[in-house]
Amino acid sequence: MSATEDMHAKMKLATSEEIWAPGGPVEDWTTDYDIRDDDYIEDPVPIWAEMREKCPIAHTDRLGGSWNPTKFDDLRAMAKMIPELSSRQVLVMPPAPNAPEMSRYEQMIAAAPITADPPIHTWTRRMLLPAFAPRAVEKYSEYTEELCHELIDGFVESGECDAAVQYSQQIPPRVIAHMIGIDPGMADQFVEWVNFVLGDGLFQPELRLKARDEMLAFIGAEVAKRQEDPQEDLLTDLLFMELDMPEAQITPEVVVGITNLLIVAGIDTTWSSIGSALWHLGSNPGDRQRLLDEPEILPFAIEEFLRYYAPVTMARIAETDVEYNGVHINRGDKVLMNFPAACHDPEQFEDPDEFIIDRAKNRHIAFGSGIHRCAGSNLARLEMTVAIRVWMERIPDFHVSDREPMKWAGGQVRGPRILPVSFPPGATR
Ligand code: HEM
Repeated sequence: MSATEDMHAKMKLATSEEIWAPGGPVEDWTTDYDIRDDDYIEDPVPIWAEMREKCPIAHTDRLGGSWNPTKFDDLRAMAKMIPELSSRQVLVMPPAPNAPEMSRYEQMIAAAPITADPPIHTWTRRMLLPAFAPRAVEKYSEYTEELCHELIDGFVESGECDAAVQYSQQIPPRVIAHMIGIDPGMADQFVEWVNFVLGDGLFQPELRLKARDEMLAFIGAEVAKRQEDPQEDLLTDLLFMELDMPEAQITPEVVVGITNLLIVAGIDTTWSSIGSALWHLGSNPGDRQRLLDEPEILPFAIEEFLRYYAPVTMARIAETDVEYNGVHINRGDKVLMNFPAACHDPEQFEDPDEFIIDRAKNRHIAFGSGIHRCAGSNLARLEMTVAIRVWMERIPDFHVSDREPMKWAGGQVRGPRILPVSFPPGATR
């Protein structure tokens, strides 16, 4: 490395490290928010209300700077601003200080379709849609149900468990591994990787890079195996897929990126939603009893869990200067797609900060909006429905215990990471 390159490399590192440095307490949520703040992670709802009222598209200089829209209509409009607001950088945190430089194409296929803009987005999304159609995911219902019973069998006699770690966290990685065609025994490893990519690792860039590299190496090896020896599984289907779209360039690298996305997007999100639902039911006996007395309201309850505890905030990067509703967004600025805040907008939902278990009018955007709307929503709803139904059948009477403090994760995906609950040993069957 030449002296100049060396100097530039050091300057880049210093700048990135400055970006990552903790910024001290937040004085003003509309001009200086910090998504790492404990209050924001613990209970962001009142903070979003303050932002929405005083400055609905807030800004901060922290973490390299970003904009934070909190109104439903703004989120829906900004999700459509393509290609001005690009998806090639969707992480809410800045790149790790020593992250390798990537070309635009590499960024777009890193986890397509979520990281891609059209035209790459269009054909990579098309590759996934058939496998996630409502009838296609229905076939995972039985597997999910058996898995939920097995997990409960493992702790029900003890009268207590960590409903985040021993239940919610265990379901999505096994379902997705089963679906892709990977040994469900890899589930614990997936959880660790995903936690480092989206959870704790969001705040520890070294861990994030290491986990990402390990995960990509693992997926790369699985793809290579199928090139040699095709199997009856989704990974093989993706690899040998033929689309009637001349622009589609399906390569092993594209399939590695898609599989990476399925593991990351399919795990943390759904485990957070199952965990939030159990947290709610374990701390609100009235709603728990209502669900026991009227199990037919479960589909409404699932939508209200999704709305009220919407887990996923994404990001976009401005490709040009953009004027939107009096806000000037500079080229290169990051915009957070705060779908969870939009789900609490009083202009869209009546009594948005109240949890109404059978809420009838509930057109939430917990699954996003526009061309990137969640491709896995049918599978997510199926997993949540089965997980909550089986839990309520087996453990109808439970409450969140203070054996150990419960812990929320925030940032990109919000949900309980530690959730101690108690119930009568053996519960019911
Ligand atoms: C409750 C659980 C889930 C929630 C709340 C959720 C939420 C979201 C959101 C908000 C987006 C939009 C991203 C953006 O605009 O940048 C998204 C995209 C996506 N999700 Fe989900 N998701 C969940 C579960 C799943 C599952 C189980 C899978 C599949 C295994 C999945 C696969 C995807 C894919 C492939 C995309 C990208 C779609 C595109 O870019 O066209 N998600 N999800």
